[in-house]
Amino acid sequence: MKHILDKLQERRDSAQLGGGKKRIDAQHGRGKLTARERIELLLDHGSFEEFDMFVQHRCTDFGMDEGEKISGDGVVTGWGTVNGRPIFVFAKDFTVFGGSLSETHAQKITKLQDMALKNRSPIIGLFDAGGARIQEGVAALGGYGEVFQRNVLASGVIPQISVIMGPCAGGDVYSPAMTDFIFMVRDTSYMFVTGPDVVKTVTNEIVTAEELGGASVHTTKSSIADKAYDNDVEALLQMRRLLDFLPSSNSDELPEWPSFDDSERIDHSLDTLIPDNPNKPYDIKELILKVVDESDFFEIQETHAKNIVVGFGRIEGRTVGFVANQPMVLAGVLDIDASKKAARFVRFCDCFNIPIVTFVDVPGFLPGTAQEYGGLIKHGAKLLFAYAEATVPKVTLITRKAFGGAYDVMASKHLRGDVNYAWPTAQIAVMGAKGAVEIIFRSEIGDPQKIAQRTKSYEDRFLSPFVAAERGYIDEVIMPSATRKRIARALALLRHKQLENPWKKHDNIPL
Ligand code: HXC
Repeated sequence: MKHILDKLQERRDSAQLGGGKKRIDAQHGRGKLTARERIELLLDHGSFEEFDMFVQHRCTDFGMDEGEKISGDGVVTGWGTVNGRPIFVFAKDFTVFGGSLSETHAQKITKLQDMALKNRSPIIGLFDAGGARIQEGVAALGGYGEVFQRNVLASGVIPQISVIMGPCAGGDVYSPAMTDFIFMVRDTSYMFVTGPDVVKTVTNEIVTAEELGGASVHTTKSSIADKAYDNDVEALLQMRRLLDFLPSSNSDELPEWPSFDDSERIDHSLDTLIPDNPNKPYDIKELILKVVDESDFFEIQETHAKNIVVGFGRIEGRTVGFVANQPMVLAGVLDIDASKKAARFVRFCDCFNIPIVTFVDVPGFLPGTAQEYGGLIKHGAKLLFAYAEATVPKVTLITRKAFGGAYDVMASKHLRGDVNYAWPTAQIAVMGAKGAVEIIFRSEIGDPQKIAQRTKSYEDRFLSPFVAAERGYIDEVIMPSATRKRIARALALLRHKQLENPWKKHDNIPL
């Protein structure tokens, strides 16, 4: 018996070495952890149960049948827990053929995807891999197809998260692209469909991996990545934090964590958050941090489209998705990037029954040829569409400006906002006073005194929350200091909200 047990241990030890000590050292030398070290950090200590440790590739081309085969075939798969909740995880092992995907490697991943979907638990992929295994040709491409198909079927049913932790190409960027969130590690991870060498051959363009697909590119320009971290350890610990915000599936309850923060807490500093001058900015994140439990806010896409802020917080221990115009950047205007960013977030929240709290301070949509040529109409409509189709509890607070179409878009009463509040500083109108007076009193523009008079009467009549409140578009004008309490009570009221859209195969959101 001892001999049999020793043999098993021997095979396990060998499989755990992946591509061997030299490659593991090289991995560490690049500042990266190995696949197994990453899983250890992600999951609760000792909770990892591995599957398919002994799977080997079956390729015989290009000398692949010569020499000893490596058990595990470049990906470590299994499940464990994060703060006690089950999570499925796969981690690409760059030390084995650069983590590239073979037919059997794909089967390990698809087995895990099927189990995650069947068991309604989140799946997280740790990517550090060069795409399809070139030696396997169409068998590898077919393998990716199977992975992609499952990504799509699981979308909106279980949370799917991708963490890019090394150079990733081909299918190892397309599969993440179909998941809910993508995170990267600064300076060690890259994402591109084709790497710098292929780019040079095809287009003659000389570009470094960082310039082509580093974290700085994907968290700012392309918006492919939702956030970047300084190293593997930080990234994995932050994934634990994120998972704590997410329900396990679209049919599961929101996770509920103990909160020591009084939901009735009054914050008098909010009474002076809005500056006297309506054109002066203030930081909307201050409001978010003062409203959520223990000031714990997990921001998504922090460095892209900063004119809108989105992310997760908790109120009374339960997850809430926050969407807020940011007056500090471009006066909080809605442009193409902000609309797309917020629309995707709203849809994620709606998929997973996460209530949405919206803070509105928006001067409108950004005018100009760059925006119009870029398709602002279509992209702005994404956010409008996303809010309008969402059936989760929607609580909205207008802090200051809510002008024009942006008033409608930002979870207004007309888009089935459940509880719509305004601060006394709110200004709800078709546009600001200057623009409005210049249009409706154009004939008086030469008379500054008359214009000043007209401006004043426009401001008095329209730049307040009361015209909307008189019509019931605003349920109540609230004291800023009581914001957390009012939102907490509204969310408690809406906890068992039931609302269904008409049956359809799926909608046709403007893509
Ligand atoms: C087989 C691969 C491989 C691959 C890397 N390796 N990619 N083996 N198939 N796709 C192997 C290398 O031969 C090397 O083996 C080891 O992994 C490490 O690779 P290096 O090139 O030394 O590492 P690095 O310099 O860090 O570069 C990493 C890389 C680069 C940027 C990922 O390897 C690369 O560009 N690989 C090819 C990427 C690619 O074009 N893949 C196909 C995409 S098509 P040794 O033995 O020397 O250690 C695709 C289709 C999917 O995925 C469908 C999409 C819709």
